[in-house]
Amino acid sequence: VDLALDHWLPGPDLVPQSIHQAMRYSVFAGGKRLRPALCLEAGQLTGAIESDVLPVACAIEMIHTYSLVHDDLPALDNDDLRRGQPTAHKKYGEAIAILAGDALLTRAFQILSTVPGSGIGAPARIQVMQEIAESIGTLNGMIGGQVADLESEGKTVTADLLNYIHSSKTGALISASVRSGALLGQGAEHELRALTEYGANIGLAFQIVDDILDVVSSAEVLGKTPGKDRSTNKATYPAMFGLEQSRREARRLADEAIKALSRLGEQADSFREMAAFIVERVA
Ligand code: IPE
Ligand code: IPE
Ligand code: MG
Ligand code: MG
Ligand code: MG
Repeated sequence: VDLALDHWLPGPDLVPQSIHQAMRYSVFAGGKRLRPALCLEAGQLTGAIESDVLPVACAIEMIHTYSLVHDDLPALDNDDLRRGQPTAHKKYGEAIAILAGDALLTRAFQILSTVPGSGIGAPARIQVMQEIAESIGTLNGMIGGQVADLESEGKTVTADLLNYIHSSKTGALISASVRSGALLGQGAEHELRALTEYGANIGLAFQIVDDILDVVSSAEVLGKTPGKDRSTNKATYPAMFGLEQSRREARRLADEAIKALSRLGEQADSFREMAAFIVERVA
């Protein structure tokens, strides 16, 4: 994935250099590459050609990185540390950080719409673009979730709203990562259904664990400043339910995700491992 990202990102010497360097800085600062992994595995499970899925996996990682760059801005979460490095706006200034986020998003859709000798036809490609665009939009997508997250700071929220925030700001793109891979492989109806249910469950579990790690982890391990959610009075699972119940809920969701795969046999083992990873991870 990193090699492919290097290929698909504009070179650092291309003009204007500052923006291309800033895009690369945030993408290559680190990161677990969970979303590309989910996309590639779903492609493999449904019989897609890996070289067709890889650009889509990269586009998704660029979109995810854009969301992190903007999430860290002073106007949003105002964070100084990301992926173990100074945040993009600390390193390049706010204007370039905003534009680098915009540029990563734009480049992603440029890649998704490009067909370089690919085995994927236009209908599948358009379907994947729609899927990803929806997942990061305002209606149950990432932007909608981010807005509700910001507007809930310092307020008492309902469990339903908390669930909406987490499923939208984080769950939706994770689900879309899995579904995109399966759409590229033209997965059967039952495969898509199973992977969709899997994605929704691990997506929510992933953000619950992110909230837990903000409480219990350290900057060295996490690569971001812990304790921020509490100091900014964010609506989080630990704040609403406490750590133990949040951990139980994340595990329950991972179990649900694994149950959804029951008809898929051992070819879905990597998805079972990723569900376990999501609740056991320390960063
Ligand atoms: C962090 O995502 C932001 C959330 C959506 C919770 P990741 O924990 O996947 O961040 P990286 O990509 O590994 O840095
Ligand atoms: C961010 O959630 C979700 C995004 C869409 C970027 P957080 O604000 O909790 O993510 P971190 O903890 O800063 O990575
Ligand atoms: Mg945030
Ligand atoms: Mg944040
Ligand atoms: Mg967080």
